[in-house]
Order: sequence, then C-alpha cells, then structure tokens
Amino acid sequence: MKTTVSLLALAGAASAATELPSIIAKGSKFFYPNGTQFFMKGIAYQRDVGAAGAKSDPTAKYMDPLADQDSCKRDVPYLQDLSINIIRTYAIDPKQDHSYCMGLLQDAGIYVVSDLSEPATSINRDDPQWNTELYDRYTAVVDEMSKYSNVVGFFAGNEVSNSANNTGASAYVKAAVRDTKKYIKDNSKRWIGVGYAANDDKDIRSEIADFFNCGESEESIDFWGYNIYSWCGDSSMSKSGYDKQVEFFQDFSVPVFFAEYGCNLPNGAKGRKWQETEALYSDEMTKVFSGGLVYMYFQEENDYGIVEIKGGEAEKQDDYDALKKAHAAADPKGVDMDQYKPSSKAATCPNVSKAWQAAAQLPPTPDKTLCKCMSDSLDCVVSDDLDEKQYGDLFGLVCANNQKVCAGINGVTNLGNYGAYSMCTPKEKLSYVLDAYYQAHGKSSDACGWKGAKLQKGSTASACQKSLSDAKQQNQAIATATGNVAAPKATGGSGKGKGKENFGVRTAPSGVLAAGVVAMAVVLAL
Ligand SMILES: *[C@@H]1O[C@H](CO)[C@@H](O)[C@H](O)[C@H]1NC(C)=O
Ligand SMILES: *[C@@H]1O[C@H](CO)[C@@H](O)[C@H](O)[C@H]1NC(C)=O
Ligand SMILES: *[C@@H]1O[C@H](CO)[C@@H](O)[C@H](O)[C@H]1NC(C)=O
Repeated sequence: MKTTVSLLALAGAASAATELPSIIAKGSKFFYPNGTQFFMKGIAYQRDVGAAGAKSDPTAKYMDPLADQDSCKRDVPYLQDLSINIIRTYAIDPKQDHSYCMGLLQDAGIYVVSDLSEPATSINRDDPQWNTELYDRYTAVVDEMSKYSNVVGFFAGNEVSNSANNTGASAYVKAAVRDTKKYIKDNSKRWIGVGYAANDDKDIRSEIADFFNCGESEESIDFWGYNIYSWCGDSSMSKSGYDKQVEFFQDFSVPVFFAEYGCNLPNGAKGRKWQETEALYSDEMTKVFSGGLVYMYFQEENDYGIVEIKGGEAEKQDDYDALKKAHAAADPKGVDMDQYKPSSKAATCPNVSKAWQAAAQLPPTPDKTLCKCMSDSLDCVVSDDLDEKQYGDLFGLVCANNQKVCAGINGVTNLGNYGAYSMCTPKEKLSYVLDAYYQAHGKSSDACGWKGAKLQKGSTASACQKSLSDAKQQNQAIATATGNVAAPKATGGSGKGKGKENFGVRTAPSGVLAAGVVAMAVVLAL
C-alpha cells in the first residue's frame, strides 16, 4: 500500500521557514506565548536508536534524523497528515546542519524535543558518570539545536535508572539536568526546558519522580517525560493504571507528558487501535498531563512503527489511519495562561533506602580546568598508547587495595559524596590513582612501573593551587566519611559566587574533616 501525501509545497520550504512561537512552561503546563495551552500530539522520530538508551556502547552508530534532507522531505507531510505537533529525536549529531529539516518542521507547525545523548556517549546505568566528555556532548547539542525556535526542550537521560539496583545513576542524570539548565540560562535568550524520560517501574515510580522534582529549581527538571506502555489493546483508565498516574501527578509542579506510548500487544504494531490516545486527550487526563508522543514513526524490528520505509518510500502500516483519526478527534481543552495560578510545590527528596540509593547531594559540575590542573601536577601518568579498553584492569589493580585514594575519582551515591575528580575523563582519573600509588611508594620508579604508565615532570601553575588544594581536602574528607560530608543545603546550580574554582565541592564540616585528614602515604600503605 503505497501512498503519497503532498500537503506541503515543499520546494524552498527550508529557506522560507517562518519561526514558530517558542513554547514556555508555567507551573505544570506548557503554553504558546499567546497564552493558549500547548498539548503535545507527538511521535518519536528516529531510526534504529530507540527507547532503551542508557547503555553506553562506544561502537554504536546512529543516524541523525534531522540531518537527512530526503527523509525529512518524505516524512514531514506524513507527520502533518497525522496532526503531529511535536517529534522526539533520540540522537542528534551536533556537527551536522539541521536547518533544512528544522525549516520543514517549522513550516508544518511541528516542535522538537530531543535527547542530548547518543549511544556511545550517554549516562550508563551500570557505570554512571557525569564527566567532561558528556558535558561537551550535551552542550554541543544544546548549541546546535537551541537556535531553532521550535525546540521545546531536551532530555538529559532516558530510562537510565530502571530498577531498584541502579537508582544511584539518577544522581548523575540530575547533575546533567542541573548543568545543562545552567548552560542554557547562560547562553540562550529564551526558556528551553531540560527534563528526563522515565520508564514506568512500579518499584521506584514514586522515588524517581520525587528525586528529579525535588530541591532547588536550578537543579531539578523542567518537565517529566513518562515512557508508558500500560494501555494495551482494549483497555480502560483503571485497567491501564492511567487513573493512578493522574492521581500521582496531580500535584506535580512541572509539566508531565507521555514521552513514549503505544503498547503493541496483543497483536503487534498493526493491531494498535489508539484507544489510549482518546483517553490521553480527555478532560480527565489533560488536567494533569500535557499530551504525549507515540512510539514510533518508523516500523523496525521491534514492531512499533506506523510507516515502513521500503525502497526510500514510506508505506503506511495498518495502525496509521487509526492514529490519524484519534489525533484528529483529540481536542484537548486547556486553561488560559493568565487565568492559571499554579500552586504545586517541588517534591521532597526521597529518603535513601534499599530501594533508593541517590542522596540529594549531586555529583560535581564537570570542570576541564581543574582536571587539567590535576593531570599536569602528576609525576606518574597513563601513557598515551594505552588502549582505553585496558584502563579497567589497571583501575582494578590500583584501587583494589587503595579504595581510599580511589575515592577521589569515585562517587558514593547513597551518601552523596563524590570525589572532586569524579567528573574527569577516564584517562585523567587513571593517572590520578597511578600517581597516588607512586607518591605513596616513595616515588620509586618501580611504583610507576605498570605496563601503560609513564613518568613525567609534574608541575602546578599558580592559578591551579587553590583549586587543587580544595580538591585534595574534599577527597580526603570523603575517603573516610560514613555520612554526607557536604551540607546538602548548599547545593544548587546558582552556587555561592565562587565561580569555576568552586566546582560544586564544598568544604567539609570540621568534625568529619578531622577524622578524614589522613596523609596519602598512610592511606596507601599496603
Ligand atoms: C495561540 O497560538 C496558537 C499557535 O499558533 C494557536 O493555535 C492558537 O489559536 C492561538 N490562540 C489564540 C487565543 O489566538
Ligand atoms: C538488577 O535487577 C534486575 C531485576 O530487577 C536484574 O535483572 C539485574 O540483573 C540486576 N542487576 C544487578 C547488577 O544486580
Ligand atoms: C524520611 O525520613 C524522615 C526522617 O526519618 C521521616 O520523617 C520521613 O517521614 C521520611 N520520608 C518518607 C517519604 O519516608
């Protein structure tokens, strides 16, 4: 069944693009600048890279969906035919030119919400980091996409914590939220949101939503995306649990929407009826939810598509017309921005427990300057030819018997204690622990004799002295701490005006510090 849709005069569309009015958030709702409430009628638009992100695979490749002119030209008319007003992309290449596709979308009245990571550079739930490499990636995507007025916001992570045993990873994602928000605030003239897309895991549902919403607004999410697949085939508000979601989020202080929905049970994508679309835009749900995004446009192996690409052409699947109808029928009634007086407050941070391992205190802001100061100061470092794949073995060897020194590069999420260098690159971190070992062993050349290590002449520029000494103090304090060493009250992206030197690390309270000040040599004694 081949169909051609030509709703748009496509020729020259990109250059003629009119800018869409940028969406803003107030309380738990989105609005057009004219005060009309904005509800998402969206769809996920990305091939291959899909829902289950958060597994960093350095070899993974992705196709940037907004850098492919032919595909955009082919697909935008379908999106328009489906009454789509927003798409979600999962992996953008900030080095590509997006003006053509973004222009087509602008002309079609379509907004964009995008993930900031890509498969090889994302926060990995099994080995979570928020470091200078990720920061560079996230901010590059912000730089590239924020110039388009139809970009509503970004996801700092997608389904990263997905079970009670990896909840600590959420601390790193929230640090990414905090730092990306700060970056946008410093570099963009308009509001662009930073949120998170969560799966629906009943064991951590309440804790994770509270965690991302709690604390100062400088570090909490601007919106909450929910990937939810609980309405399958013939269902209902109560059978699907949608009624419980309405109840749960009724007092949430920021907008909530379905960042993915569209269960393909029991009959595969083809059998989808989109009853849930009707529910999503009913009064019962729109008072709490801002609509949602169908998963997904492309029919692929996972069987969630509404069109299949064959020989470069888009072929409508059997669930296409049903979705078109459901979207066309949806006419959510919103509130007017001026009449709307939000009263909900941010959540209280969840207590740390067996089921929730992320304290309110977040990992430090990535700071390349500090990392460079540190690595320049070392005498024993990783040699340049050591393959990064072998770092793990060396970390293992050095850290196994020297956990206290390795505290400087690690994070203890349930205490909210993070090494000052936990945000550096793997290479810088490995150099840090190799040098600590070398210093503790009287700088004997043997102590830098690891395969993959080399000696250099370390030096400390005067501009580095203060930050290195603060970092050292922090690392010593957390090495022996059994509780949080930095007052959680002092958190928040706004900082205390110390600028870069502060890098989110606060001086430890004196009691803890006294116990924590242990000479490296003593700590390292084997
Ligand atoms: C506000 O703008 C949106 C988008 O352009 C439009 O759909 C809506 O009708 C406008 N509302 C009013 C009250 O003009
Ligand atoms: C975490 O829990 C899930 C089930 O909830 C299990 O499949 C997984 O293997 C566990 N991972 C670890 C590292 O224990
Ligand atoms: C968290 O712990 C505090 C102090 O123990 C307690 O008062 C509060 O009820 C707990 N909160 C939750 C949500 O369990």
